[in-house]
Amino acid sequence: TSAGTRTFPFTPTAHPTPAARRAELLVEPGFGQVFTDHTATATWTAGRGWHDEAVRASEPLVLHPAAAVLHYAQEIFEGLKAYRQPDGSVALFRPELNAARFAHSARRLSLPELPVDAFLEAVRGVVRADEAWVPEAPASLYLRPFTVATEAFLGVRPADEARFCVVACPAGPLFAGRDAGLTLWISAELSRAAPGGTGDAKCGGNYAAGLAAQTLARTHGCDQALFLDAAEHRWLEESGTMNVLLVTADGDLVTPPLGTILDGVTRRSVLELAAGHGLRAVERPVSVEELTAGCADGSITEVFAAGTAAVISPIIAFRSTAGGFTVGSGAPGPHTLALREELLDIQFGRVADPRGWRVSV
Ligand code: COI
Repeated sequence: TSAGTRTFPFTPTAHPTPAARRAELLVEPGFGQVFTDHTATATWTAGRGWHDEAVRASEPLVLHPAAAVLHYAQEIFEGLKAYRQPDGSVALFRPELNAARFAHSARRLSLPELPVDAFLEAVRGVVRADEAWVPEAPASLYLRPFTVATEAFLGVRPADEARFCVVACPAGPLFAGRDAGLTLWISAELSRAAPGGTGDAKCGGNYAAGLAAQTLARTHGCDQALFLDAAEHRWLEESGTMNVLLVTADGDLVTPPLGTILDGVTRRSVLELAAGHGLRAVERPVSVEELTAGCADGSITEVFAAGTAAVISPIIAFRSTAGGFTVGSGAPGPHTLALREELLDIQFGRVADPRGWRVSV
């Protein structure tokens, strides 16, 4: 019952945000604080499949206090952005990758899979309904699709009822004011994911499990934690809200392999852009020892983080219980900045798009 294209019929809100207020909110939207007027939603019921697809006024989600998501965290989400183009139109960036990952996450969390077409229709529906909320570059409209288990049932099993929803928020950079580069706390004890776990699914539980390390990072004056593998506490994984990549002096763009980390759309895109920047894309394990020694002897010249929210953020230093060290000169590196610029130029429609990454709304 859940195959094929579905449409999300649109009913405009009776109470749109006044244009003057919207303009005010768009000046400095921050990240994830200001929400638009409409949401897409659909309900799934076992035996019936997806139904009641709609794009309509944003409203509170009413849940029974025993809803499974509130107890067992049966939840998945996505993050993607809509970009204002020079001709005034709006484009998404490789949204089919988000749709595919959403389906992968659904399988891992025993939630119903939303067909790729329905995912894209829902996202498009919200962007069309709230087109006026898409900011001018460099800001964009961040879209957050998610599915939660809504069945009121305290036994532990996959819920028989779920709700899909897309909320949208105009968004500036995730790390506002940190253009000079981030410092990461190498999280030696607190792990994010283990083999066979949910590390490659985009589920709320991964983020909840990462908060303690993030808080620890903050108390050590760092912007974010860098997670290591759970078995040896030795191999670089990811940073909780972004993937990590490094540039070597001999021209490799190196990043940890998939498995227990998120298959980031920005990560993947940057690996595909590498050759055009004279870099060889290499997915292989990287140890803390290699990172530390490479930053000391200059064989690692740049490190950066990649994510939809984080875009490409230079990492200029690391700290851990063993001390701290700087990457290169302690300033954003040239490859980092060039890759960032090319990615943003593609997303905002300022250059040609030979790979077909932009998808018009
Ligand atoms: C994104 O980059 O879209 C993310 O999901 C990170 C977010 C949790 C802030």
